[in-house]
Amino acid sequence: MPNQDSKFKYTSYEIIKKEEMMPGMFLFRLKGRLDFKPGQFVQAALEHFGEGTFAPCSDPNQKDYFELCIRGCGSTSNGLITLLPGDEMLVRGPYGNGWPIKKLWYKDTLLIAGGMGLVPLRPLIFEMLRSKINFDKITLVAGFKTDEHLLFSHDLEIWRKKLSKVIPVVEIGSKNFWGEIGMITEPLKNLVFNKKKTIALICGPEVMVPFVNQVLEEKGLPHNQIYISYERRMECGIGICQHCNIGSHLVCKDGPIFRYDQIKEEVGK
Ligand code: FES
Repeated sequence: MPNQDSKFKYTSYEIIKKEEMMPGMFLFRLKGRLDFKPGQFVQAALEHFGEGTFAPCSDPNQKDYFELCIRGCGSTSNGLITLLPGDEMLVRGPYGNGWPIKKLWYKDTLLIAGGMGLVPLRPLIFEMLRSKINFDKITLVAGFKTDEHLLFSHDLEIWRKKLSKVIPVVEIGSKNFWGEIGMITEPLKNLVFNKKKTIALICGPEVMVPFVNQVLEEKGLPHNQIYISYERRMECGIGICQHCNIGSHLVCKDGPIFRYDQIKEEVGK
């Protein structure tokens, strides 16, 4: 049994693959086992730089490796993205509650991702596809700036055949783009779903969340059937820095995933 402190200790993982997903954003494959639940997060560190919060985005059933998608947007992440295959990355975790998978059993699930919000939903989709018998309709609506910003486009093509519906939507798209063009709220407005048995899971920029919630509310989806990930608020990930509060909750300790009715006074603040 690991002792309490081991939860906060780093493990060094060898990078076995690095793939540029778009300029400044890389998918790192790390050798070794990380037992995590979809929607949980880890802290990845670089000596002399600091650490950042990242959601593992690979299939949680994969026991030989796990993957982190890292975008260079600060000193730590800009340092992390310089690492190469053969280098080691320090990782601690996983932490957090993860998506409420059992609550999705025998329900229709509406997954709504904005940009990198697809990252923590990807392991959930792998998990749901593996035990598809437990889930009814699975719909994914994923919004990006342009079709060049599409994340996991190879997966989207596969999921298109395996999920009930996959709708990528971009604000600006080329003429060969197979999804929709506009804001992410547009396909949501046109979506027909059973409001009694649909659970919506949202992950994306906080500025997107109130607009998405408004559409879901207008379509009659009860607040207690909406879950939102606030993983982007985190810094230390272990309840020390106090930078991640949402009302009286700490995202790193009580979340990162919250049911909308439990935090709705704080959404959009
Ligand atoms: S991330 Fe530091 S207290 Fe939550």
